[in-house]
Amino acid sequence: MKPDSLICTKTQEEYPLHEARWQSKAGNLLDIRFKPTLDKNLIRQRAANLWRYREALPILDDSHIVSFGEGATPLQKITVDNVGVHFKLDFLFPTGSYKDRGSAIMISKAKELGITHVVQDSSGNAGSSVAAYCAKAGISCDIYVPKGVSEGKLVQMKCYGANVVVVDGTREDTAEAAYQAAKNSYYASHCWNPFFFQGTKTFAFEVCEQLGWKAPDTLILPAGNGTLLIGAYIGFKELLKAGIIESMPKIIGVQATHCSPLYEAFNEGLTYIPEIITLPTLAEGIAIAQPVRGKQMLQYVELSEGVFMCVSEEEIKDALIMMGRMGYFIEPTSAAVVAGVRKYILTAPPNEKIVSVLTGSGLKSTEKILKII
Ligand SMILES: Cc1ncc(COP(=O)(O)O)c(C=O)c1O
Repeated sequence: MKPDSLICTKTQEEYPLHEARWQSKAGNLLDIRFKPTLDKNLIRQRAANLWRYREALPILDDSHIVSFGEGATPLQKITVDNVGVHFKLDFLFPTGSYKDRGSAIMISKAKELGITHVVQDSSGNAGSSVAAYCAKAGISCDIYVPKGVSEGKLVQMKCYGANVVVVDGTREDTAEAAYQAAKNSYYASHCWNPFFFQGTKTFAFEVCEQLGWKAPDTLILPAGNGTLLIGAYIGFKELLKAGIIESMPKIIGVQATHCSPLYEAFNEGLTYIPEIITLPTLAEGIAIAQPVRGKQMLQYVELSEGVFMCVSEEEIKDALIMMGRMGYFIEPTSAAVVAGVRKYILTAPPNEKIVSVLTGSGLKSTEKILKII
Protein backbone atom coordinates (compact mmCIF):
# COMPACT_ATOMS: atom_id res chain seq x y z
CA MET A 1 0.00 0.00 0.00
CA LYS A 2 1.27 3.48 -0.88
CA PRO A 3 2.17 5.69 2.11
CA ASP A 4 0.03 8.60 3.30
CA SER A 5 1.35 11.67 1.48
CA LEU A 6 0.95 15.22 0.36
CA ILE A 7 0.96 15.07 -3.45
CA CYS A 8 1.69 17.86 -5.92
CA THR A 9 -1.35 18.21 -8.20
CA LYS A 10 0.89 19.05 -11.18
CA THR A 11 4.01 16.88 -10.92
CA GLN A 12 2.79 14.14 -8.54
CA GLU A 13 5.87 14.82 -6.38
CA GLU A 14 5.24 13.46 -2.89
CA TYR A 15 5.96 14.81 0.60
CA PRO A 16 5.33 13.28 4.02
CA LEU A 17 1.71 13.84 5.05
CA HIS A 18 2.62 15.16 8.46
CA GLU A 19 5.01 17.96 7.49
CA ALA A 20 4.34 21.70 7.71
CA ARG A 21 3.75 22.24 4.02
CA TRP A 22 0.76 23.84 2.26
CA GLN A 23 2.15 23.98 -1.30
CA SER A 24 4.68 21.99 -3.32
CA LYS A 25 8.31 23.11 -3.61
CA ALA A 26 7.44 24.43 -7.09
CA GLY A 27 4.50 26.42 -5.67
CA ASN A 28 1.70 24.12 -6.85
CA LEU A 29 -1.44 22.96 -5.06
CA LEU A 30 -1.23 19.85 -2.90
CA ASP A 31 -3.72 17.05 -2.45
CA ILE A 32 -3.69 14.39 0.23
CA ARG A 33 -3.39 10.64 -0.13
CA PHE A 34 -4.68 9.14 3.07
CA LYS A 35 -6.43 5.83 3.67
CA PRO A 36 -9.48 6.48 5.84
CA THR A 37 -11.37 3.86 7.77
CA LEU A 38 -15.13 4.15 8.12
CA ASP A 39 -16.51 1.57 10.53
CA LYS A 40 -20.28 2.07 10.84
CA ASN A 41 -20.54 0.17 14.13
CA LEU A 42 -17.82 2.21 15.76
CA ILE A 43 -19.20 5.49 14.38
CA ARG A 44 -22.70 4.70 15.72
CA GLN A 45 -21.39 4.56 19.31
CA ARG A 46 -19.71 7.96 19.18
CA ALA A 47 -20.86 11.47 20.19
CA ALA A 48 -22.85 13.47 17.62
CA ASN A 49 -20.08 15.57 16.14
CA LEU A 50 -17.76 15.34 13.14
CA TRP A 51 -15.03 13.61 15.17
CA ARG A 52 -17.19 10.48 15.14
CA TYR A 53 -15.42 9.73 11.83
CA ARG A 54 -12.10 9.86 13.71
CA GLU A 55 -10.31 7.16 11.70
CA ALA A 56 -11.07 9.08 8.49
CA LEU A 57 -9.46 12.30 9.75
CA PRO A 58 -5.68 12.68 9.34
CA ILE A 59 -4.76 13.97 12.82
CA LEU A 60 -2.21 11.72 14.48
CA ASP A 61 -2.81 12.38 18.16
CA ASP A 62 -6.15 13.08 19.90
CA SER A 63 -4.44 15.54 22.24
CA HIS A 64 -3.99 17.92 19.29
CA ILE A 65 -7.67 18.09 18.43
CA VAL A 66 -9.06 21.63 18.54
CA SER A 67 -12.83 21.33 18.77
CA PHE A 68 -16.01 23.04 19.91
CA GLY A 69 -17.92 19.76 19.51
CA GLU A 70 -18.87 20.85 15.98
CA GLY A 71 -20.72 18.86 13.33
CA ALA A 72 -23.68 16.50 13.05
CA THR A 73 -25.84 19.39 11.89
CA PRO A 74 -29.50 18.53 11.20
CA LEU A 75 -30.47 17.31 7.74
CA GLN A 76 -33.96 18.70 7.36
CA LYS A 77 -36.54 18.14 4.66
CA ILE A 78 -37.92 21.51 3.58
CA THR A 79 -40.64 21.95 0.98
CA VAL A 80 -39.43 24.31 -1.72
CA ASP A 81 -41.96 25.16 -4.45
CA ASN A 82 -43.89 21.98 -3.57
CA VAL A 83 -40.83 19.72 -3.74
CA GLY A 84 -39.23 18.15 -0.65
CA VAL A 85 -35.49 18.91 -0.52
CA HIS A 86 -33.09 17.87 2.25
CA PHE A 87 -31.01 20.76 3.56
CA LYS A 88 -28.01 20.45 5.88
CA LEU A 89 -28.36 23.24 8.42
CA ASP A 90 -24.68 24.14 8.40
CA PHE A 91 -25.35 27.72 9.48
CA LEU A 92 -25.72 26.19 12.97
CA PHE A 93 -21.97 25.62 13.33
CA PRO A 94 -20.22 27.38 16.27
CA THR A 95 -19.05 30.36 14.19
CA GLY A 96 -22.19 30.46 12.04
CA SER A 97 -20.99 28.73 8.88
CA TYR A 98 -19.93 25.36 7.46
CA LYS A 99 -16.34 26.61 7.32
CA ASP A 100 -15.90 25.19 10.83
CA ARG A 101 -15.75 21.73 9.27
CA GLY A 102 -12.53 22.69 7.51
CA SER A 103 -11.07 24.84 10.29
CA ALA A 104 -11.51 22.09 12.89
CA ILE A 105 -9.21 19.74 10.97
CA MET A 106 -6.83 22.35 9.52
CA ILE A 107 -6.16 24.11 12.84
CA SER A 108 -5.90 20.79 14.73
CA LYS A 109 -3.24 19.87 12.17
CA ALA A 110 -1.49 23.22 12.65
CA LYS A 111 -1.42 22.60 16.40
CA GLU A 112 -0.07 19.11 15.82
CA LEU A 113 2.70 20.59 13.66
CA GLY A 114 3.67 23.01 16.46
CA ILE A 115 2.69 26.08 14.41
CA THR A 116 2.25 29.26 16.44
CA HIS A 117 1.16 31.77 13.78
CA VAL A 118 -0.97 31.52 10.63
CA VAL A 119 -2.26 33.81 7.88
CA GLN A 120 -5.56 33.47 6.05
CA ASP A 121 -7.64 35.49 3.58
CA SER A 122 -11.39 35.45 3.37
CA SER A 123 -14.60 37.13 2.31
CA GLY A 124 -15.51 36.75 5.98
CA ASN A 125 -16.77 33.35 7.06
CA ALA A 126 -13.55 31.39 6.60
CA GLY A 127 -11.67 34.19 8.36
CA SER A 128 -13.96 34.22 11.38
CA SER A 129 -13.91 30.43 11.53
CA VAL A 130 -10.11 30.19 11.39
CA ALA A 131 -9.87 33.01 13.96
CA ALA A 132 -12.12 31.11 16.39
CA TYR A 133 -10.18 27.86 16.11
CA CYS A 134 -6.87 29.73 16.43
CA ALA A 135 -8.18 31.40 19.59
CA LYS A 136 -9.04 27.97 21.01
CA ALA A 137 -5.67 26.52 19.94
CA GLY A 138 -3.58 29.46 21.24
CA ILE A 139 -2.30 30.22 17.73
CA SER A 140 -2.05 33.85 16.60
CA CYS A 141 -3.47 34.78 13.20
CA ASP A 142 -3.51 37.55 10.60
CA ILE A 143 -6.74 37.54 8.59
CA TYR A 144 -6.79 39.47 5.31
CA VAL A 145 -10.22 40.70 4.19
CA PRO A 146 -11.35 42.86 1.27
CA LYS A 147 -12.73 46.33 2.01
CA GLY A 148 -16.53 46.18 2.30
CA VAL A 149 -16.74 42.80 4.01
CA SER A 150 -19.86 42.37 6.19
CA GLU A 151 -19.41 44.16 9.50
CA GLY A 152 -20.71 41.18 11.49
CA LYS A 153 -17.90 38.99 10.17
CA LEU A 154 -15.29 41.68 10.83
CA VAL A 155 -16.44 42.18 14.42
CA GLN A 156 -16.48 38.43 14.95
CA MET A 157 -12.85 38.03 13.80
CA LYS A 158 -11.74 40.91 16.02
CA CYS A 159 -13.58 39.51 19.01
CA TYR A 160 -11.69 36.22 18.58
CA GLY A 161 -8.47 38.26 18.82
CA ALA A 162 -7.40 38.01 15.16
CA ASN A 163 -5.21 40.69 13.65
CA VAL A 164 -7.50 41.83 10.81
CA VAL A 165 -5.81 43.35 7.74
CA VAL A 166 -8.31 45.18 5.51
CA VAL A 167 -7.09 45.25 1.89
CA ASP A 168 -8.18 48.22 -0.19
CA GLY A 169 -8.80 46.17 -3.34
CA THR A 170 -10.64 43.21 -4.79
CA ARG A 171 -11.08 39.72 -3.35
CA GLU A 172 -8.21 38.66 -5.64
CA ASP A 173 -5.94 41.47 -4.30
CA THR A 174 -6.73 40.23 -0.79
CA ALA A 175 -5.77 36.66 -1.65
CA GLU A 176 -2.52 37.88 -3.20
CA ALA A 177 -1.64 39.94 -0.09
CA ALA A 178 -2.19 36.90 2.13
CA TYR A 179 -0.26 34.64 -0.23
CA GLN A 180 2.74 36.98 -0.01
CA ALA A 181 2.48 37.18 3.79
CA ALA A 182 2.26 33.38 3.97
CA LYS A 183 5.83 33.13 2.71
CA ASN A 184 6.91 33.94 6.27
CA SER A 185 4.20 32.00 8.06
CA TYR A 186 1.84 29.02 7.65
CA TYR A 187 -1.01 29.56 5.20
CA ALA A 188 -4.20 28.37 6.89
CA SER A 189 -6.00 28.94 3.62
CA HIS A 190 -9.34 27.29 2.94
CA CYS A 191 -8.31 27.11 -0.74
CA TRP A 192 -4.63 26.16 -0.64
CA ASN A 193 -4.35 24.09 2.50
CA PRO A 194 -5.33 20.48 1.71
CA PHE A 195 -6.24 19.72 5.33
CA PHE A 196 -9.24 22.06 5.07
CA PHE A 197 -10.87 19.65 2.61
CA GLN A 198 -10.27 16.76 5.00
CA GLY A 199 -12.71 18.62 7.25
CA THR A 200 -15.29 19.63 4.67
CA LYS A 201 -15.47 16.01 3.49
CA THR A 202 -17.35 15.23 6.72
CA PHE A 203 -20.34 16.90 5.03
CA ALA A 204 -20.57 13.80 2.82
CA PHE A 205 -20.17 11.39 5.75
CA GLU A 206 -22.94 13.11 7.71
CA VAL A 207 -25.35 13.30 4.77
CA CYS A 208 -24.77 9.65 4.01
CA GLU A 209 -25.21 8.52 7.61
CA GLN A 210 -28.33 10.69 8.06
CA LEU A 211 -29.87 9.12 4.94
CA GLY A 212 -29.36 5.65 6.43
CA TRP A 213 -25.90 5.18 4.89
CA LYS A 214 -27.16 5.95 1.41
CA ALA A 215 -26.06 8.56 -1.12
CA PRO A 216 -28.52 11.15 -2.43
CA ASP A 217 -29.12 11.37 -6.18
CA THR A 218 -28.18 15.02 -6.41
CA LEU A 219 -26.18 17.50 -4.36
CA ILE A 220 -26.73 21.22 -4.90
CA LEU A 221 -23.80 23.18 -3.49
CA PRO A 222 -22.24 26.65 -3.63
CA ALA A 223 -19.39 27.12 -6.10
CA GLY A 224 -17.05 29.87 -5.01
CA ASN A 225 -13.66 28.47 -4.06
CA GLY A 226 -15.22 25.02 -3.89
CA THR A 227 -14.27 24.29 -0.31
CA LEU A 228 -17.53 22.43 0.27
CA LEU A 229 -17.91 21.10 -3.27
CA ILE A 230 -14.42 19.56 -3.36
CA GLY A 231 -14.73 18.29 0.21
CA ALA A 232 -18.09 16.67 -0.56
CA TYR A 233 -16.62 14.99 -3.64
CA ILE A 234 -13.68 13.63 -1.61
CA GLY A 235 -16.03 12.39 1.11
CA PHE A 236 -18.40 10.59 -1.25
CA LYS A 237 -15.43 9.10 -3.09
CA GLU A 238 -14.16 7.69 0.21
CA LEU A 239 -17.62 6.27 0.96
CA LEU A 240 -17.61 4.65 -2.48
CA LYS A 241 -14.16 3.15 -1.92
CA ALA A 242 -15.26 1.86 1.49
CA GLY A 243 -18.15 0.06 -0.25
CA ILE A 244 -20.72 1.99 1.80
CA ILE A 245 -22.43 3.59 -1.21
CA GLU A 246 -22.76 2.38 -4.77
CA SER A 247 -22.72 5.55 -6.80
CA MET A 248 -21.55 9.14 -6.66
CA PRO A 249 -24.25 11.78 -6.37
CA LYS A 250 -24.52 14.25 -9.22
CA ILE A 251 -23.04 17.58 -8.09
CA ILE A 252 -24.68 20.85 -9.16
CA GLY A 253 -22.47 23.88 -8.45
CA VAL A 254 -24.29 27.20 -8.03
CA GLN A 255 -22.73 30.54 -8.97
CA ALA A 256 -24.05 34.10 -9.12
CA THR A 257 -24.62 35.31 -12.69
CA HIS A 258 -22.60 38.41 -11.74
CA CYS A 259 -19.50 36.27 -11.09
CA SER A 260 -19.66 32.94 -12.91
CA PRO A 261 -16.25 31.81 -14.19
CA LEU A 262 -16.95 28.10 -13.58
CA TYR A 263 -20.31 28.22 -15.30
CA GLU A 264 -18.69 29.86 -18.32
CA ALA A 265 -15.73 27.48 -18.40
CA PHE A 266 -17.97 24.42 -18.03
CA ASN A 267 -20.36 25.46 -20.76
CA GLU A 268 -17.55 26.29 -23.14
CA GLY A 269 -15.86 22.95 -22.43
CA LEU A 270 -12.72 24.63 -21.03
CA THR A 271 -10.40 22.90 -18.59
CA TYR A 272 -9.09 26.21 -17.24
CA ILE A 273 -10.75 29.28 -15.72
CA PRO A 274 -11.11 32.12 -18.23
CA GLU A 275 -10.70 35.81 -17.43
CA ILE A 276 -14.22 37.11 -16.91
CA ILE A 277 -15.96 40.41 -16.36
CA THR A 278 -17.67 40.50 -12.98
CA LEU A 279 -20.33 42.68 -11.41
CA PRO A 280 -20.96 43.15 -7.68
CA THR A 281 -23.18 40.45 -6.17
CA LEU A 282 -25.08 39.99 -2.93
CA ALA A 283 -23.50 36.52 -2.73
CA GLU A 284 -20.13 37.73 -1.44
CA GLY A 285 -19.00 34.22 -0.42
CA ILE A 286 -19.11 32.93 -4.00
CA ALA A 287 -17.85 36.09 -5.71
CA ILE A 288 -14.59 34.42 -6.76
CA ALA A 289 -13.36 35.33 -10.26
CA GLN A 290 -10.28 33.10 -10.22
CA PRO A 291 -10.85 30.13 -7.89
CA VAL A 292 -7.48 28.59 -6.98
CA ARG A 293 -8.87 25.06 -7.31
CA GLY A 294 -11.11 25.92 -10.26
CA LYS A 295 -9.73 23.16 -12.49
CA GLN A 296 -10.40 20.61 -9.78
CA MET A 297 -13.96 21.88 -9.38
CA LEU A 298 -14.61 21.56 -13.12
CA GLN A 299 -13.17 18.06 -13.09
CA TYR A 300 -15.16 16.84 -10.07
CA VAL A 301 -18.48 18.24 -11.29
CA GLU A 302 -17.90 16.59 -14.65
CA LEU A 303 -16.90 13.26 -13.06
CA SER A 304 -20.09 13.34 -11.00
CA GLU A 305 -22.09 13.99 -14.20
CA GLY A 306 -23.31 17.28 -12.77
CA VAL A 307 -23.33 20.85 -14.07
CA PHE A 308 -22.83 24.45 -12.96
CA MET A 309 -25.75 26.83 -12.90
CA CYS A 310 -26.21 30.57 -12.35
CA VAL A 311 -28.67 32.64 -10.37
CA SER A 312 -29.52 36.33 -10.69
CA GLU A 313 -29.52 38.95 -7.94
CA GLU A 314 -33.35 38.99 -8.04
CA GLU A 315 -33.47 35.22 -7.58
CA ILE A 316 -31.07 35.48 -4.62
CA LYS A 317 -33.25 38.11 -2.97
CA ASP A 318 -36.45 36.09 -3.54
CA ALA A 319 -34.85 32.94 -2.12
CA LEU A 320 -33.61 34.80 0.95
CA ILE A 321 -37.07 36.18 1.67
CA MET A 322 -38.74 32.82 0.99
CA MET A 323 -36.43 31.08 3.48
CA GLY A 324 -36.93 33.85 6.04
CA ARG A 325 -40.70 33.41 5.82
CA MET A 326 -40.19 29.72 6.63
CA GLY A 327 -38.05 30.57 9.67
CA TYR A 328 -34.54 30.21 8.26
CA PHE A 329 -32.39 33.33 8.67
CA ILE A 330 -29.55 32.80 6.20
CA GLU A 331 -27.05 35.06 4.52
CA PRO A 332 -27.35 36.09 0.85
CA THR A 333 -24.62 33.65 -0.28
CA SER A 334 -26.64 30.78 1.20
CA ALA A 335 -29.78 32.15 -0.47
CA ALA A 336 -27.99 31.90 -3.81
CA VAL A 337 -27.78 28.13 -3.30
CA VAL A 338 -31.49 27.98 -2.44
CA ALA A 339 -32.17 29.94 -5.65
CA GLY A 340 -30.14 27.26 -7.44
CA VAL A 341 -32.30 24.56 -5.85
CA ARG A 342 -35.45 26.34 -7.08
CA LYS A 343 -34.05 26.47 -10.58
CA TYR A 344 -32.86 22.86 -10.54
CA ILE A 345 -36.17 21.39 -9.45
CA LEU A 346 -37.96 22.97 -12.41
CA THR A 347 -36.38 20.32 -14.66
CA ALA A 348 -35.34 17.63 -12.15
CA PRO A 349 -36.18 13.99 -12.85
CA PRO A 350 -39.15 12.93 -10.66
CA ASN A 351 -38.58 11.44 -7.20
CA GLU A 352 -34.92 12.36 -6.98
CA LYS A 353 -33.41 12.54 -3.50
CA ILE A 354 -31.92 16.04 -3.50
CA VAL A 355 -29.59 17.34 -0.80
CA SER A 356 -28.50 20.94 -0.46
CA VAL A 357 -27.12 23.14 2.31
CA LEU A 358 -27.76 26.35 4.21
CA THR A 359 -24.16 27.44 4.61
CA GLY A 360 -24.17 30.64 6.65
CA SER A 361 -26.18 32.53 9.28
CA GLY A 362 -27.99 35.75 8.42
CA LEU A 363 -26.90 37.26 11.71
CA LYS A 364 -23.54 38.31 10.25
CA SER A 365 -25.04 40.11 7.25
CA THR A 366 -27.85 42.14 8.75
CA GLU A 367 -26.93 45.36 6.94
CA LYS A 368 -27.17 43.61 3.55
CA ILE A 369 -30.33 41.71 4.45
CA LEU A 370 -32.02 44.88 5.69
CA LYS A 371 -31.61 46.38 2.22
CA ILE A 372 -33.17 43.26 0.64
CA ILE A 373 -36.23 43.08 2.85
C1 LIG B 1 -21.97 31.42 3.57
C2 LIG B 1 -21.10 30.88 2.49
N1 LIG B 1 -21.64 30.00 1.63
C3 LIG B 1 -20.92 29.49 0.62
C4 LIG B 1 -19.60 29.86 0.41
C5 LIG B 1 -18.93 29.25 -0.78
O1 LIG B 1 -17.69 28.76 -0.59
P1 LIG B 1 -17.01 27.53 -1.29
O2 LIG B 1 -17.36 27.50 -2.73
O3 LIG B 1 -15.58 27.76 -1.08
O4 LIG B 1 -17.49 26.29 -0.61
C6 LIG B 1 -18.99 30.77 1.28
C7 LIG B 1 -17.59 31.17 1.12
O5 LIG B 1 -17.06 32.01 1.76
C8 LIG B 1 -19.77 31.29 2.34
O6 LIG B 1 -19.24 32.17 3.20
